[in-house]
Amino acid sequence: MNALQKSGLEALVSQAVEWDCPLSNYTSFGIGGPAEALVKVADQEELQQLIKFVQEEKIPWRVLGRGSNILVRDEGFAGIAIILSGEFKKTRVETRGDGVALKVGAGHSLSKLSAMCMDQGFSGLEFACGIPGSVGGAVMMNAGAWGGEIADVLIELELVGSSGKVSYKKEELQFGYRSFSAPGDQDLVISSATFALNKGEPEEIRQLCRKYLDKRRDIQPAGGKNAGSMFKNPQGDSAGRLIDACGLKGEKVGGAEISVKHANFIVNRGDASAADVLQLMELIVDTVYRQNGIRLEPEVKVW
Ligand code: EPU
Repeated sequence: MNALQKSGLEALVSQAVEWDCPLSNYTSFGIGGPAEALVKVADQEELQQLIKFVQEEKIPWRVLGRGSNILVRDEGFAGIAIILSGEFKKTRVETRGDGVALKVGAGHSLSKLSAMCMDQGFSGLEFACGIPGSVGGAVMMNAGAWGGEIADVLIELELVGSSGKVSYKKEELQFGYRSFSAPGDQDLVISSATFALNKGEPEEIRQLCRKYLDKRRDIQPAGGKNAGSMFKNPQGDSAGRLIDACGLKGEKVGGAEISVKHANFIVNRGDASAADVLQLMELIVDTVYRQNGIRLEPEVKVW
């Protein structure tokens, strides 16, 4: 960005722009070089103006969310990484028949949302207990676990583009396994999602959440630096099973290791670089392809 663009960007947003910001501090992998600028956007108006600005100035940009499904390359991202904060973290509850419609800002943490639902006795998002990431990111990926996914409970979505806000009913959107698309080809950012939830017994909801959290802890690496499942499951099979069957658990490159607990996770043992992770991903794809004829597709987004 040139000096004029830099001052233009600073004038657009209410929070200070972080220049040359290491994204390792903003990703669950703890890996990644700097973004030229990291921008926290406080409300819809700022987001709209920012999208207009990046379009006019032809500056690369991406929404970072909570950085949980992202591998940022060591050289970083030559553009603007956006975090939705402020208004994008709010929730609003309305009665809907026997249940509720819960409108949530895209910057809200998904696992905190599911914990809030547990406390309030709203049922439907139990599957999301322990899924890291933001609500917006979860919609983009149609995140799921234990047979549930975002598309099952979503009823409406709001997105913001350079001309303002658009809303879509779930029926107007396309969801697949770990995929989502909205009509039109504009640059749009998800600003909020509305979920239809049932009123349930808080204790029953709590038990189900606990069961899922325990299961997750049993079969997935807990607590460490990782980005969740690295590859999508191929039709009718499991990436984890395939990688495991190739004997790749525990394989290391530099500070990155294929988890010994779940083969579809790569863990950062402290000092992994993005290059280490990419090399392990290549090893996985090549080995699984050679042994099974299946080409695994990354679930993690590489920046
Ligand atoms: N398996 C192995 N070895 C391993 C890992 C798994 O043999 O190292 C076998 C398991 O025994 C099981 C099968 O593979 O028979 C499937 O494994 P698992 O039950 O762990 O489910 P998964 O398909 O690997 C998916 C999601 C997870 C989600 C779980 C629970 C994908 C790519 N992953 O994992 O989502 O938490 O189901 O529902 O769809 C994520 O998306 O980041 C994520 C963690």
